[in-house]
Amino acid sequence: MSRAGRETLAWTRRHLLGLEDLSAEELTAVLDTARGFSEISTRSIRKVPTLRGRVVANLFYEDSTRTRLSFSLAAQRLSADVLSFTKSGSSTSKGETLIDTARNIEAMGVDVFVVRHKAPGAPHVLARHLEGSVVNAGDGAHEHPTQALLDCHTIREARGKIEGLHVAIVGDIGHSRVARSNLFALKTLGAKVTLVGPPTLVSGRFRELGAEVSHDLDEVLPEIDVINMLRIQRERQGHLNFPSLVEYSRRFALNEKRMKRAKKDVLVMHPGPLNRGVEITPEVADGPNSVILNQVASGLAVRMAVLFLVTAAKERAQKEQHSTEQAALPSGGAS
Ligand code: NCD
Repeated sequence: MSRAGRETLAWTRRHLLGLEDLSAEELTAVLDTARGFSEISTRSIRKVPTLRGRVVANLFYEDSTRTRLSFSLAAQRLSADVLSFTKSGSSTSKGETLIDTARNIEAMGVDVFVVRHKAPGAPHVLARHLEGSVVNAGDGAHEHPTQALLDCHTIREARGKIEGLHVAIVGDIGHSRVARSNLFALKTLGAKVTLVGPPTLVSGRFRELGAEVSHDLDEVLPEIDVINMLRIQRERQGHLNFPSLVEYSRRFALNEKRMKRAKKDVLVMHPGPLNRGVEITPEVADGPNSVILNQVASGLAVRMAVLFLVTAAKERAQKEQHSTEQAALPSGGAS
């Protein structure tokens, strides 16, 4: 059996809603499939017919630059047709519910819904109401599975492995779906994860999810192989959870002075959007250790892999159901 065939079989889920309950085999199946797809971006014609005739609908109820464009381009590279819904300008302002909107779009013949919503669990609700596959593109502060998968892909391609590495995720952990999904995937793949930030943003309760917790970046920095810097999610905070941004930056920003304490080959990551001068200085964001733009490139390959795998799983399940129904018919069929 081909490698691609084996990866497809290791993946049987119709939806990708989160990473909390994914096995190492499933995570690796996505990363291996993404590795195969990343080659397509180097060709002169950057398109394959894998999802020709299928429709991918992006349902974005929250702002997005990278994730929305990346899913659109990933679907187009696989030759799928793409529908793009954003909340502003839609009938949401006329009172239409999420489920009604999605069902109406599904009636146009949609195979995969990519959903971003401020309510945790919104993609899970849709998965129960729709025939098509649902991919979570960020639900409130809950999960952002494709971001964590692309982060894992970036680390794996740069370092050749994830197991045994020490990854620090720094910043507004309490409000971050990126931190949660990264923690689940990295732990399952054998990395050590330390969550770093002020006590108001990083609760000790994250230890229950298998993370180390630190409130002192300077102390942990010398041991770290990969540092993932997060934005302060002010849109999810009622008020600032620390005295001032200046004070926050003094203790937690990644700047050139701090980088001197880090390993020479530390990988510097950030999911974007960057708040330059708050959590990371321009010199570090654009410096030699930064793989921030590699993350964006990885995102395309990972999203191609996810769209392909969920569609293949759904179509396999439908075929199996069809054969079971055929086998249950009395022999000789209808007269
Ligand atoms: C993140 C998000 O939206 O959760 N960004 C992204 O998807 N690239 C992180 C953030 O908004 O800070």
